[in-house]
Amino acid sequence: MGGSGEIERRVQALLARMTLEEKVGQLNQQPLTQDISALEEGVRSGSVGSVVLAYTPFAGREGRRDQAAQRERLQRIALEESRLGIPLLLGRDVLHGHRTVFPIPLAQAAAWDPALAGRAAALAAAEAAQEHVNWTFAPMADVCRDLRWGRVVEGYGEDPYLSGRYAQSAVEGFQKHGGISACAKHFLGYGGSEGGRDYSGVDASQRQLREVYLPPFAQAVAAGVDSVMAAFNDVNGVPVTASRALLTGLLKEELGFDGIVVSDWNAIGQLVGQGAAEDRRDAARLAFLAGVDVDMCSGCYGEHLAGLVREGACPEARLDDAVGRVLRVKLRRREAPPAPPPGRAAAAAAALEAAQKGIVLLKNENGALPLAAGEPVALVGAAARQRRIHLGSWTLDGRARETASIAQELAARRTVYASCCGDPDRARRAAAQAGTAVVVLGEHWDHTGEARGSAGLTLPRRQLDALRAAAGACGRVVAVVCAGRALCLEEVERYADAILCCWHGGSQAARAIVSVLCGDVCPSGRLPVTLPRRPGQIPLYYSQRTAARSIDSYYGTGDIASYLDCPAAPLYPFGWGLSYTAFSYGPVSARREGDGVCLAARVRNTGERAAEEVCQCYIQPRGGGRAHPARLLRGFRRVRLEPGEEREVRFVLGERELSGADETGRARLWPGYAAWIGGNSRTDNGTVFRLEGG
Ligand code: BGC
Repeated sequence: MGGSGEIERRVQALLARMTLEEKVGQLNQQPLTQDISALEEGVRSGSVGSVVLAYTPFAGREGRRDQAAQRERLQRIALEESRLGIPLLLGRDVLHGHRTVFPIPLAQAAAWDPALAGRAAALAAAEAAQEHVNWTFAPMADVCRDLRWGRVVEGYGEDPYLSGRYAQSAVEGFQKHGGISACAKHFLGYGGSEGGRDYSGVDASQRQLREVYLPPFAQAVAAGVDSVMAAFNDVNGVPVTASRALLTGLLKEELGFDGIVVSDWNAIGQLVGQGAAEDRRDAARLAFLAGVDVDMCSGCYGEHLAGLVREGACPEARLDDAVGRVLRVKLRRREAPPAPPPGRAAAAAAALEAAQKGIVLLKNENGALPLAAGEPVALVGAAARQRRIHLGSWTLDGRARETASIAQELAARRTVYASCCGDPDRARRAAAQAGTAVVVLGEHWDHTGEARGSAGLTLPRRQLDALRAAAGACGRVVAVVCAGRALCLEEVERYADAILCCWHGGSQAARAIVSVLCGDVCPSGRLPVTLPRRPGQIPLYYSQRTAARSIDSYYGTGDIASYLDCPAAPLYPFGWGLSYTAFSYGPVSARREGDGVCLAARVRNTGERAAEEVCQCYIQPRGGGRAHPARLLRGFRRVRLEPGEEREVRFVLGERELSGADETGRARLWPGYAAWIGGNSRTDNGTVFRLEGG
């Protein structure tokens, strides 16, 4: 592929002038957490090509003071004081916002609105670029079917199709509209870490790699992503950082990726600990030959790569290839400088829209929501008063003091009897004063993210006690759940008449939540993950393969039970979400269109208020001698309908949407298909079709 003609010419001209050490320097990434004068000297001498401004369990947390000025100064040194004036890449984990914090990526996925996520990425990029960041380590494109994994917060949920649409939009937002480089991470299979334990190995068949984990990365590459991060984990026993088959064979050759492959933090050094490399020199050799271009913070390339090339253990052509990839990205970015941010108010409006659209109404009985106009409510739970909780994990630059609490926002709208300390007795007293209690339940923002696994997937006991106490003291209970992942909410479901799943919704979360509670906004989010009843059901995802006997282990209606001690079905399935109105669907039609099929159905707003519905299209392949997933999402559309309004929704599925992979990983079509169009993954509004003969 390569860059444009002029960029390519400049890349080759630079390569021709560079010493071996300068080439290795371009592949050496250092943290901003180290001694700043040593870093400046590294940049000046050309032994450092990029910097990561991190905030991780390993990297620690750098002080915020003067960071933007430091970045600016480092860039000036690279451009004006280094021999070749090659710009620096200044990387930071701008995951879901910068100063303006958008909902966590999982919540953005709950909006089923990739274009909105693209706008969020562009705004975040523009804000970050103003502070001299030109590379974000986002989006995280790891599909995850195990809510115990703490990093589920960073991705777009359990489905490859939904995740792929989001990965594509985020890349376009960051790069095309925001003007900074994106990084699709963590390639490949990281979301499958065994037991949800971070950094663990993954055993996955070719079919699973291709059908489940690869699609979002393929979408990111197709969208022109500048970089891809190799995952920490091993896949089938080979650490990805040392996997030539995955990094060079699959990513660079098969997908045609022409950008930078960056290792994860110290992942090259860790090859020794994983047992894959004999020592750091061997680790550098393995990673480099596998296809890792940039070494994030292990130092192995800096120590050994020049020697390895001199001795002939690593070919110079591979070095030029790696350096060329880095230079191309650097020059491309300088060609297209980022646009200035649109201003805090515009960013806040987009953050509010994203937070509102991601809220999922899981349950609504007993007329609980929206709250009756002017009705006083009891507000229960310590999380109601918290502000930092809404910003979620991986918030490096957002400020809690610029974020309101639910208590502040609700008190501005109506009389509130508050017990925001979480004490059950006080919760009971507050609830007894009002007809309705709003109980805010929350997972601490630092309980999801890297190395933040959870085996229990539950809320703190004290919070549940307060919920129970409130439920015993008033007529209606609304549970507002602010969490970084989907939790097991069986107990919440027992006591609450209504449940709003609000995630960690960013700077504007509290306003968004109160606007939904009060009915100004109709909830329209849909679950991007399955919500299990208990952790013992995990892995539980809607597209699991149909079982051999009549155990319907996802939908839960088979003749034989999956578990003796728990229903098979999830508490709420993938795609689930209620509205303050209701929608109905007409029958599904299927007709041949080109190489594929056009599926259509009419959707109608049968309720009394205008609202948005997320129409979802699923298929199930049939035949071909393989067991197939029960359902596969293959299209979705947000549709706004006035009361009584009806509209046709159409989904055109081509070869890409209809094909799967066989055991060797080869793409193939299947003889027949079932298809459904409806409001969630459980819809039974379906038809069947075959490709041949139309
Ligand atoms: C994480 C990456 C992150 C990097 C830099 C690592 O520990 O796994 O996702 O981009 O640190 O902060």
